[in-house]
Amino acid sequence: MISKHLNDELNKQITYEFYSSHLYLAMSGKLASIDFIGAATWMRTQAEEERIHALKIMDYIIEAGGEVVITGFEDPTVNANDIKGIFEQGLEHEKFVTGRINFLMDLATEEKNYAAVNFLNWFVDEQVEEESNAETIIRSLKLIGNDGNGLYQIDKELGARISVGTGTAKA
Ligand code: FEO
Repeated sequence: MISKHLNDELNKQITYEFYSSHLYLAMSGKLASIDFIGAATWMRTQAEEERIHALKIMDYIIEAGGEVVITGFEDPTVNANDIKGIFEQGLEHEKFVTGRINFLMDLATEEKNYAAVNFLNWFVDEQVEEESNAETIIRSLKLIGNDGNGLYQIDKELGARISVGTGTAKA
């Protein structure tokens, strides 16, 4: 079982994960429009991952005997017009999501809901990985600057990211 409070906050998290998916899709479109096709592919894969995160939480609520409520969200806005700025916005967004996961973990811990703590641990690890991935890409982009050859190479590398997970809620 999960408390009403934790159930509500997990439902909110489903919305944040779907919002994340939309934001990365918007970033993918922006990157394609400025000819970074590889980076656009990377972002599209990230959007798929976020959708899987949302479904993972949805499945957990059902398993825990809670109630899933799906709500809408605001339009995603990409604030930057260059590849580095777009990845920087992505990193800032991930930091926000990490804060949300930490909040959920605090709540589950306070309620002594150790099953939920165990479930949320996956997301704690995932956030470390997601922030680290974004930081690594930003570091490379800073080194490359406006070097055309470097930008070409990194775009190619980012485009090599293949689809993640199995596409199911259990991925
Ligand atoms: Fe689902 Fe990027 O955190």
